[in-house]
Amino acid sequence: MKIGIIGTGSITGKHAQAIAEIEGAELVALYNPNPESAAKAKAQFGLLVLTDLEEFLKVPDMEIVCVCTPSGMHLEPALAAAKAGKHLMIEKPIEINLKRTDELIAACAENKVKLAVIFQNRFTEDYQKLKRAVSEGVFGRLLMGNAYVNWFRDSAYYSTSNWKGTLEADGGGALINQGIHTVDLLLDLMGDVKSVFGQVQTTLYPIEGEDLGAAIVNFKNGALGNITSATALYPGYPERIEIFGTEGSAILEAGKLTQWNIKESSEIVKPSQNSGGSGASDPTAIGHQLHLAQWKLFLRAIQEDQTPVVDGETARKSVELIRAIYFSSKKGKIVAFPFEDED
Ligand SMILES: NC(=O)c1ccc[n+]([C@@H]2O[C@H](COP(=O)([O-])OP(=O)(O)OC[C@H]3O[C@@H](n4cnc5c(N)ncnc54)[C@H](O)[C@@H]3O)[C@@H](O)[C@H]2O)c1
Repeated sequence: MKIGIIGTGSITGKHAQAIAEIEGAELVALYNPNPESAAKAKAQFGLLVLTDLEEFLKVPDMEIVCVCTPSGMHLEPALAAAKAGKHLMIEKPIEINLKRTDELIAACAENKVKLAVIFQNRFTEDYQKLKRAVSEGVFGRLLMGNAYVNWFRDSAYYSTSNWKGTLEADGGGALINQGIHTVDLLLDLMGDVKSVFGQVQTTLYPIEGEDLGAAIVNFKNGALGNITSATALYPGYPERIEIFGTEGSAILEAGKLTQWNIKESSEIVKPSQNSGGSGASDPTAIGHQLHLAQWKLFLRAIQEDQTPVVDGETARKSVELIRAIYFSSKKGKIVAFPFEDED
């Protein structure tokens, strides 16, 4: 299966590494409209790099396109690719607001192409164990689920990027860019949200989006939850998910189970070796193995005509929650779900 990638920045290399390890898959072309960036990518990847989107979409037999542009610039290239009949793998977040997200999902449905959104942290061995246990009711009735992303980025992280922390291209800051991975896991474990109260602020950096955010979530299943997400908390600690139920509790840190306590069970769970790393202090400190796991499943879903893991509707949920937190913070009010954007 031939694959092309749109955007040639820092995350593109992880996709290239992952695709190179899949038998029967081949990365055939890259697209970047900026001639300088395209030349740099050609030198880096040694592949065909096109600066014209129409030409890129005509590369023979290219069935799948992966979108790695800044978050608020996923929609336009994705629409063109969907219209050209390409299946789409999009980097997180699917888009930066619900209107753009819905447009993207609708275009894929209309053009009958598959859509998956990268949330690679779903694929650590320990997360999968936690998810299975929650689904099987091992923790009993869920009482509380927390997601903490107390991370740190230095000022150069923002000052050297033309889009990170901007409202137009990042959609905000720590929540929509960094925290969304863990918010996605929390929603996957705890289910849908009934209401949320959020507060966000910009504390350390001269950015439009937040570098500090917190929220209290009321889940439909009756459980409560806390979310924190930050890029201002030195030195940055591994992201953590806590699940508490009537029959037991578990804590997952940076993709590894560090606590597992089930009533009347003596099972001792040791953290697995392979967690994929944490971007707590350094965004480049993640491997490509989890992207590889999601790519393999996506290719299988295409071959078997199945719904991909983390499809558009699933990826929409974390955008909905984060947009609701922003709205709640702006209005100083609890926000009920389903939430629809104002703008
Ligand atoms: N899954 C993860 O852990 C992870 C990690 C980092 C980034 N990301 C996501 O990947 C996306 C890209 O992030 P990044 O860190 O690689 O950013 P980046 O700034 O390093 O790269 C963005 C790339 O897109 C190109 N670009 C900009 N506008 C374009 C357009 N209209 N058409 C084609 N190319 C265009 C830029 O020239 C650059 O090559 C973001 O959505 C981000 O949230 C995901």
